[in-house]
Amino acid sequence: MSLKPYKRSRVAIVGMGAVGTTTGYTLLLRQRMSELVFIDVNVKKAQGEMLDMNHGLPFLGGVKVWAGDYEDCRDADIIIVTAGASQKPGETRIDLLKRNAEIFESIIDNIVKVNTHGILLIATNPVDILSYISWKRSGWPSSRVIGSGTLLDSARFRYLIGKQKGIDPRSIHAHIIGEHGDSELPVWSTANIAGTPLDLGEETKNEIFESTKNAAYEIIDAKGATSYAIGLALDRIVAAILGDEGSVLNVSTLLEDYNGVSDVYLGVPSIVDHNGVREILDLPLNDKERQGLHQSADKLKNQISKLNL
Ligand code: NAI
Ligand code: LAC
Repeated sequence: MSLKPYKRSRVAIVGMGAVGTTTGYTLLLRQRMSELVFIDVNVKKAQGEMLDMNHGLPFLGGVKVWAGDYEDCRDADIIIVTAGASQKPGETRIDLLKRNAEIFESIIDNIVKVNTHGILLIATNPVDILSYISWKRSGWPSSRVIGSGTLLDSARFRYLIGKQKGIDPRSIHAHIIGEHGDSELPVWSTANIAGTPLDLGEETKNEIFESTKNAAYEIIDAKGATSYAIGLALDRIVAAILGDEGSVLNVSTLLEDYNGVSDVYLGVPSIVDHNGVREILDLPLNDKERQGLHQSADKLKNQISKLNL
């Protein structure tokens, strides 16, 4: 009997706040990688989170966890960036742009100084624009610069549809595309359960979409931040990459003549494997949906045009 060869895999997380910590803990529980490194401008915080998780290793084993610096990104397969300002109650994701675009310059420079082969997975908001900035700044192929996009929004959407229908959300096939934010849109035209069209009235559909779109505002108002579902969404993307799965996930990726939209990052169904985004699926859209996608793209491009890229 031959033993399975040991394969080292390293995930680095830059930004150990609510999102980074929950993501790290989720990755640890699911034993996604053999090495997990935490980086934060607040070194003490990263060290505290690291110690707390290390003390759980006797119950888990398997993963080496430490708090480090950018040098530790050198051998990382995936670098997840969750660093930066988050929304206060009432703020939009776009309100964070100026502050987070500034810190991203040095974060991305520090990563690409030491790493040439990894995949950048961006979660900081506004995630689509920061993914675009990261792609430009890194000089890496767009396949290796991925935003969490509308994967989280699509999960919220599927959860709410499943709740309405009394069906497991994993059996609901439905997509939110566009900006991870206020201009996102539901693709009702292809939403289905095992190929069966959804029989939902217009009013119910509107309620489901509005709850999806406003979910983060509701949670931030109630508890100050969102963290568990985004942690699971980032874990899902890491699993698709490290497992070379070829899974279809609504991540944020560079669009080039996608339904007539180019030169912007938006959330669309993408095939994710060991190389990052391998291919974007050509989701059939009706006229209203295509128009919504264009509006979402125009909104973000207008914001990007105001930046000094
Ligand atoms: P947080 O305030 O709890 O944590 C942010 C962390 O970033 C802090 O630990 C801070 O010390 C660190 N940081 C700040 N500047 C840094 C730098 N230059 N280098 C390294 N670390 C730095 O914020 P939270 O709640 O974790 O949110 C983080 C970001 O994730 C926000 O922009 C938020 O809007 C976004 N987010 C995105 C989601 C998505 O679906 N893409 C979901 C939830 C949050
Ligand atoms: C979310 C974050 C705030 O939970 O973007 O949607």
